[in-house]
Amino acid sequence: MKYYHRCLLGLGLAGSVYLASCSSSTTNETDTMTAAQNATQQTPNDVHSFAKPAEAVATHLDLDIDVNFNEKVLSGTASYLIENKTGTDKMVFDTRGLQVEKVYLGDNQEETAFELGEEQQYLGRPLTVTIKPDTRKVTIKYKTSPDAAALQWLNPQQTAGKKYPFLFTQSQAILARTWIPIQDSPGVRITYSAKVKVPKELLAVMSAENPVEKNAEGVYTFEMKQPIPSYLMALSVGDLVFEKIGPQTGIYAEPATIKAATYEFAEMDKMLVAAEKLYGKYRWDRYDLLVLPPSFPFGGMENPRLTFVTPTVLAKDRSLTSLIAHELAHSWSGNLVTNATWDDFWLNEGFTVYFERRIMEEVYGKDYADMLNVLGYQDLQNTISDLGATSQDTRLKLDLEGRDPDEGLTDIAYEKGNFFLQNIEKAVGREKFDAFLNSYFNTFAFQSTDTDKFLNFLRTELIKGDEQLAKQINVEGWIFSPGLPEGFEAPTSTRFAKVEEAFQSWQNGTPAAQLNTKDWSSHEWLHFIRMLPAGMSQQQMADLDKAFNFTNSGNSEVLAAWFIHAINNKYTTADKALETFLTNVGRRKFLVPIYKALAATPEGKKKALAIYAKARPNYHAVATVTLDDMLK
Ligand code: BES
Ligand code: ZN
Repeated sequence: MKYYHRCLLGLGLAGSVYLASCSSSTTNETDTMTAAQNATQQTPNDVHSFAKPAEAVATHLDLDIDVNFNEKVLSGTASYLIENKTGTDKMVFDTRGLQVEKVYLGDNQEETAFELGEEQQYLGRPLTVTIKPDTRKVTIKYKTSPDAAALQWLNPQQTAGKKYPFLFTQSQAILARTWIPIQDSPGVRITYSAKVKVPKELLAVMSAENPVEKNAEGVYTFEMKQPIPSYLMALSVGDLVFEKIGPQTGIYAEPATIKAATYEFAEMDKMLVAAEKLYGKYRWDRYDLLVLPPSFPFGGMENPRLTFVTPTVLAKDRSLTSLIAHELAHSWSGNLVTNATWDDFWLNEGFTVYFERRIMEEVYGKDYADMLNVLGYQDLQNTISDLGATSQDTRLKLDLEGRDPDEGLTDIAYEKGNFFLQNIEKAVGREKFDAFLNSYFNTFAFQSTDTDKFLNFLRTELIKGDEQLAKQINVEGWIFSPGLPEGFEAPTSTRFAKVEEAFQSWQNGTPAAQLNTKDWSSHEWLHFIRMLPAGMSQQQMADLDKAFNFTNSGNSEVLAAWFIHAINNKYTTADKALETFLTNVGRRKFLVPIYKALAATPEGKKKALAIYAKARPNYHAVATVTLDDMLK
């Protein structure tokens, strides 16, 4: 899944590289009423936020902004309903690169004093606003800077349609503060409404109830009735159209992409049905996708009601849709029950990978999910060997103090988290574990949890004093120790066993064209390519390419894995395709290992720098921050 190379980041010690509607239904009252209640309960100690929610906390945001493509600036007001819990005279928000113009209190907009503190790396500047014990409303007038890290402003050339500009946000982990002054901690939840003004030719969408078509004024209003953490604040503006998939699901994309997208993701409704069957009712009314231009730095981002997704999964054969299962699963693990701090990131991603594989098993069968598990296990092994088997960053519970939380974004959270949960499932049986997870999601719905809270719940609801079981589950080994616990049994796949047979026979001299590769999915191909040995001759590379046409594959996963061999073996036939890929695709998980392979030799590095100079304007800040450092 992802490749992480700690040595590449100049950000700190460890540093795995970031890989990287039209609803008419009403929201359940109990879902919407809990924001203030939750806020009062939760006083997380989040080292990545300046906010002090235990003293004064925001419960609702009303955002009113103007989107200016010429200046690459958002400007307007963020108006908060707040709860002053301790009668404090100071309320703290997070900002980074924001220009704060004025701050007002109350409905009659009384101007108040504010102060922007010292700038700190990644964290930005605390905005401290003078409030009164009875203050209920704080309005901040502000502007973003053109280089705001959460925002990517694309010119028409960088879109599929080539006619209109495009904007999208990426707030996770702590980038929401670069486009909204906000209490930017996953332990704080707010509901929100928004009014967004955009150029008339464009449509705006958010992680909220969305419009389905453009209007003449270019002014759109939004509402998110369920309380969400700040990292799920999202906005995108572009030449977008909407098409329905099922009663509750649909897709937003550029007109040039919508057809490919509706074909690729036609099964998203089935996934939603499977997910609800597993872990209970979907709590966000609609589930739609927004297909972004190729510079989107991630595979997917689980913005509530509207998952943002890379177009690199448009493989034309529906083979990479586990990504949708993943982002959908976050509607429970992450969006509903949220990691309280980034040290508990595995509670978001580990649960989500586990859940993703369960959805895939439900819809496509066990054989299919097994393949994903094996590929995930390979990723995990690579990550552990990159980080070092005894690295503290290979524990599930992280300690990210003093570092950018993106450094916790490794396959440890994802795959070690997943295998820990699979291990519990094995120990107690699927039925019992599913009941436990259902109750976990219900108990902590619209709240944040941390590792301790989860462990308490595990002890009282599942382990219940059974020492034998506790030993099997091995919390200490999985959560607080590096590497993989002793006795862990690696996953296996019968479909991959056949790939291994074919591979063996190729190694024993059977020409590539004669291998039995019938009905292989992209996962089988990926497994095959990953097994290819390090030093291959030009002849071998050319034979493989001739038989399987890897260089011209339409599958981004196959292509990215093949390019690594092409680079390492100096197979220059792939150069042109490689350059096209690198100048078009901005997905960090692909870019990092490819540029790293290139940078490993002097000639390769020259090539990399030449391509990077051209391609860099197409990449999101999230990717360039990593690559600048690697290629400097
Ligand atoms: N929430 C993550 C993406 C993320 C995590 C962004 C942390 C910024 C900080 C999303 O759900 C995710 O995991 N995306 C993966 C795809 C998935 C199939 C593993 C990705 O983008 O590669
Ligand atoms: Zn995820």
